[in-house]
Amino acid sequence: MKTVQDYIRTIPDFPHEGILFRDVTTLFGDPRGFRMAVDQMLHPFAGQRIDKVAGLEARGFILGGAIAHQLGVGFVPIRKKGKLPWKTIEQDYALEYGTATVEVHEDAILPGERVLLVDDLIATGGTAEAGIKLIQRLQGEVVACSFVIDLPDLGGRALLEGLGMNVQALCVFPGH
Ligand code: PRP
Ligand code: MG
Repeated sequence: MKTVQDYIRTIPDFPHEGILFRDVTTLFGDPRGFRMAVDQMLHPFAGQRIDKVAGLEARGFILGGAIAHQLGVGFVPIRKKGKLPWKTIEQDYALEYGTATVEVHEDAILPGERVLLVDDLIATGGTAEAGIKLIQRLQGEVVACSFVIDLPDLGGRALLEGLGMNVQALCVFPGH
């Protein structure tokens, strides 16, 4: 039987020479693959209280929406700056070159709500860390951070675990 990892396409030299790009469109595009990924991301949280699922733009929206639907809870988009129409709080994070900013609506998470943070991939962990900070600034509790792919050589999991996070990933790709 195929595993989640088998549905992920690897593209050499994208977007730069020397980068092996892990393409999840082939996973999302397959009915068995997509369902398997969503079911496996949910599995560790069976029986736990989760009030909201937060997804990181853009690929975290696809997984997060499906996971929220399955759990019967609301979905919170954490978006790149300038896209959300209501009052927001924002958080900067480091990119390879420069910085970026993500935002969340200030009323999207209520104090004490238990939030599952979702994205497709963790590399340096900068994006996820910014999402964690936004949730925590709204006094939400991050139950866990769940990814399809962990690139361990880039240190993101270790960074988040150092913040006391429960980090879950379905596949690990050493090297990058
Ligand atoms: C990719 C990926 C994660 C993030 C991981 O998103 O989908 O969100 O990078 O990198 P990090 O752990 O080093 O922060 P990207 O910013 O390329 O945007 P997209 O999801 O909108 O395509
Ligand atoms: Mg992304």
